[in-house]
Amino acid sequence: MNAKLKIRTFYKNDRQAIEELSGEVFSIYGNYRKYLPEWIDVPDVLTIVAELDSLLVGFIVVGIFQEVESSFYADILAIAVHPLFQRQGMGRTLLTEVISMIEQQTTLKIKDIRLTVADSNLAGQSLFKKLGFTFSGREGLYEGGQTALRMSRPLSKL
Ligand SMILES: CC(C)(COP(=O)(O)OP(=O)(O)OC[C@H]1O[C@@H](n2cnc3c(N)ncnc32)[C@H](O)[C@@H]1OP(=O)(O)O)[C@@H](O)C(=O)NCCC(=O)NCCS
Repeated sequence: MNAKLKIRTFYKNDRQAIEELSGEVFSIYGNYRKYLPEWIDVPDVLTIVAELDSLLVGFIVVGIFQEVESSFYADILAIAVHPLFQRQGMGRTLLTEVISMIEQQTTLKIKDIRLTVADSNLAGQSLFKKLGFTFSGREGLYEGGQTALRMSRPLSKL
């Protein structure tokens, strides 16, 4: 499977595939088919995609936000793998790539990596725990009614 898997940064013509995949996997949580393309355009938001034989099969969207003065944090705004390609290591590959990019950059003082996951999303929680995230609190509800849980992971350089 990994032979033809390509991890690359977002191109403008990935937009439609990201919109469709968001509609497919996130619709139980809210109108992410609409939100995802909007987030991608925000400055300081980075989108990485997984491509298999020129087909976009997954993506991860991460934003860098300022907390206080020179202290920043990264927030994984979304990660998705097409249902036909799940459980083949792509979610782990996408998240590992982003963690490693953040750890390697030296421009900003990024304190930790955070994300939000639904209480019912055990697959997502399992992936995040395996990559070092722990629960850090709650943050209201998704439009779909699920409780939003916050998770975070310190950066290994700190
Ligand atoms: C969460 C998601 C991105 C995982 O992607 P994936 O490519 O299937 O994950 P991987 O194959 O890399 O699996 C990595 C780990 O995640 C966990 N995992 C993935 N799918 C799982 C499932 N269906 N049930 C339980 N654990 C699961 C496992 O711990 C797995 O490790 P293992 O293979 O050693 O058991 C994918 O299920 C998805 O797109 N879900 C819909 C969108 C979503 O919920 N995103 C997260 C919130 S933003």
